[in-house]
Amino acid sequence: MKAAISKTYGGPEVVTLGTLARPEPRKGELLVRVAAAGVTTADWRLRAAAFPGAISAVAGRLMFGICAPRNPVLGSDFAGRVEALGPGVTGFALGERVFGFRFGGAHAEFMTVKAAGAVTKTPDGLTDAQAAALPFGGLCALEFLDRFAQLKPGERVLVVGASGGVGAYAVQVARALGAIVTGVASGESLPFVESLGADHVVDYRQTDPAKLTGPYDVVFDTVGALDYTRAAPMLAKGGRFVPLNFGLGDVWKGRKARRNGHAQILKVNGDTKEGLDRLVELIAAGQLRPVIDTVYPFDEIRAAHAKVETRRRKGAIVLEIGATATGG
Ligand SMILES: NC(=O)c1ccc[n+]([C@@H]2O[C@H](COP(=O)([O-])OP(=O)(O)OC[C@H]3O[C@@H](n4cnc5c(N)ncnc54)[C@H](OP(=O)(O)O)[C@@H]3O)[C@@H](O)[C@H]2O)c1
Repeated sequence: MKAAISKTYGGPEVVTLGTLARPEPRKGELLVRVAAAGVTTADWRLRAAAFPGAISAVAGRLMFGICAPRNPVLGSDFAGRVEALGPGVTGFALGERVFGFRFGGAHAEFMTVKAAGAVTKTPDGLTDAQAAALPFGGLCALEFLDRFAQLKPGERVLVVGASGGVGAYAVQVARALGAIVTGVASGESLPFVESLGADHVVDYRQTDPAKLTGPYDVVFDTVGALDYTRAAPMLAKGGRFVPLNFGLGDVWKGRKARRNGHAQILKVNGDTKEGLDRLVELIAAGQLRPVIDTVYPFDEIRAAHAKVETRRRKGAIVLEIGATATGG
């Protein structure tokens, strides 16, 4: 099968298209014929060994591979069709359209996924590209805003990086949870952020996010523009500061936050079938839409990586890998 392979850490040029043996589904696994796959911030970080905050370069390499990504095929968000069922799989049928998230392996024509893992049926009406654009940002937004921050109707939330891979979903999920949303992005992205449902928008080139006064019940920083010390003055009583990128130095700030009647939430999100199903429900309810910046042909995967690395985009970057369904 055709696959994008990273044999070393480096720039987009280290990703080459080659041929690998097609994986076989083991017990409890599906073999998916991949139609579309996301290229996410996680793929860029793994390809370049650009590990954020708490994961130092050394720890990152120990975790993900000393000289090269341990799994040379990157890609986590996928959409396609069930090609084969491993022993013991129930609940899925051959040929069925599915989408989901598995850490690595999606930048290839075939991948295996645990049937009990983060994979679910693709709803009619969604193209494969749209389905592949959902999991990374959608699951992260849902997990952090709903589960970790417990955002409530009527609460005020600031989303820093509101047009990006996570932020574009965070604005929508926050609105779906009934919150009043302020989105921060560059001026040219603000009409897009408003189109996602933001009540208020801020251009970070005109106003330093740290100068905002709020008050906000939740500050969700997807880009690392703030830390607790800078966010504290804008937090309401009981406010939660939720950074996606953080370092070891941030851990002690949690005590300071508690003393101030705030909480600092440092978490890593899990990816589940239930989370995907919840995204599907939000789409059916008209409260969420997949957001795609650009769809690249598989052969242009290096350009897709380069685009992600700019940190300037509106929603997801998607690769078209196989024959894609356009949705019913
Ligand atoms: N902890 C976890 O479990 C977890 C899970 C998922 C992701 N993450 C991390 O979350 C981060 C976000 O990923 P992403 O894919 O959303 O990133 P991204 O797409 O690269 O984010 C870009 C966004 O940030 C805005 N932005 C750029 N510079 C800014 C600044 N100085 N101030 C404010 N906003 C700025 C951009 O606006 P313009 O385009 O308008 O400039 C755009 O809205 C990544 O670092 C990823 O590793 C962590």
